[in-house]
Amino acid sequence: MLYLASGDARRQGMNIYMVGGVVRDLLIGKRVLDLDIVVEGDAIILVRKLASDLGLPFRRHHSFGTATIYFRGHKIDFATARTEHYLNWGDLPKVEPSTLSRDLFRRDFTINAMAISLNEKNYGELIDLYNGLSDLRKGLVRVLHEKSFLEDPTRIFRAIRFERRFSFKIEETTMSLLRQAISNNILRTVNPHRIRNEICLILKEDKPLKYIRRINRLVGFGFMDRGMKIGNFHYRLFKRIDNALQLYYNDFFLHREVCNYVVYLTALLIRLSPKKLFALAEIFGFRKGERVIIFSVKKNINRIKRLNRKDIRPSSIYKILAPLSFESIIFFYAYYPHSYLRNNISYFFHNLAGVSLKIKGRDLKKMGLEPESVYGRVLEKLLWLKLDKGLETRVQELSEAEKIFRELTRQKVR
Ligand code: CTP
Repeated sequence: MLYLASGDARRQGMNIYMVGGVVRDLLIGKRVLDLDIVVEGDAIILVRKLASDLGLPFRRHHSFGTATIYFRGHKIDFATARTEHYLNWGDLPKVEPSTLSRDLFRRDFTINAMAISLNEKNYGELIDLYNGLSDLRKGLVRVLHEKSFLEDPTRIFRAIRFERRFSFKIEETTMSLLRQAISNNILRTVNPHRIRNEICLILKEDKPLKYIRRINRLVGFGFMDRGMKIGNFHYRLFKRIDNALQLYYNDFFLHREVCNYVVYLTALLIRLSPKKLFALAEIFGFRKGERVIIFSVKKNINRIKRLNRKDIRPSSIYKILAPLSFESIIFFYAYYPHSYLRNNISYFFHNLAGVSLKIKGRDLKKMGLEPESVYGRVLEKLLWLKLDKGLETRVQELSEAEKIFRELTRQKVR
């Protein structure tokens, strides 16, 4: 595929290179799934030709000269080589077509500013104009120029992300530029939606506590809310969430993917008042799924304490937990260290969450039960009965459903 791209590019008088994080990851021996390609020339023309040669789907994007080809479950992003001009710090830049070297120079850190040639004349050659390889070997996160954090303040979070992920160090001059940018309140100039994206990327890293500690020490969390303080309470909660998630994946056998990062995001924000949370969700553009989970945790945080009892019926556990997302339940497991409460959550995951009825509304209809409007209520009560008494067969379910129906409608059993 890359050879073909290379041939197509040559025939159209273009040069192509693999760039950015992919090159960094290949050099440190990490498996890469998706590729980023820069084209000296019009990337859209190249992608159209390549996709039609290979009979592959592609998508053109809104952002300047970019398109993606989908190949055997992988994504290959193509972008026209570009330079960026910043009109106001923190805004998105004005973009123009350019050369590889200028495209690499606009990038965040030296370790992310290397390329590998995909051109026939020097296929596979590393192009390292800014000493990225040496920094990769030394374990340093270094900006390419002194305006880097001003041009794009989200790089403050990216620097921390790469530093912690690879156990690197932020190089000395870079660190002083970073501190300077922070003390100039540069994060105020960024669209908060971009900050939300960076925070979520950090929370998607494995065990994000070390990243959050670092942000807290270097930047603080005032950029989210002036009075927002993160400390030991949150650190302990993050560790307990690590454990709860591990338990969820290893012991509960539910095979349902959960969004780990939203559990951590909830932990970060849990001490804010509902009013502040609501305002923050608006300002930072939290996604709908994130809001649903965060607000439902906030709303149920006291109600959940009812689970901290030894003798509680399975149906009562179910009534409390079933309406909640798994992310919220995992959060509560971590938040409350009380053993009865935790046992009941474990019991829910192991024994209740996967239970369903064998019969449906249409089975009640076949039995001639009228009116249909009570079917929902009948099936709900039947499920609770099943959870408490363990109905085994369809026949048992049908017979119990009929009894519940008669009770609800006060009809006599025939
Ligand atoms: N980039 C940049 N400045 C940013 C974001 C991205 O210069 N604020 C450049 C970097 O060269 C980066 C590349 O765009 O390597 C791709 O960005 P992204 O996919 O966000 O980063 P990766 O380095 O691939 O990081 P990750 O491994 O987390 O996906």
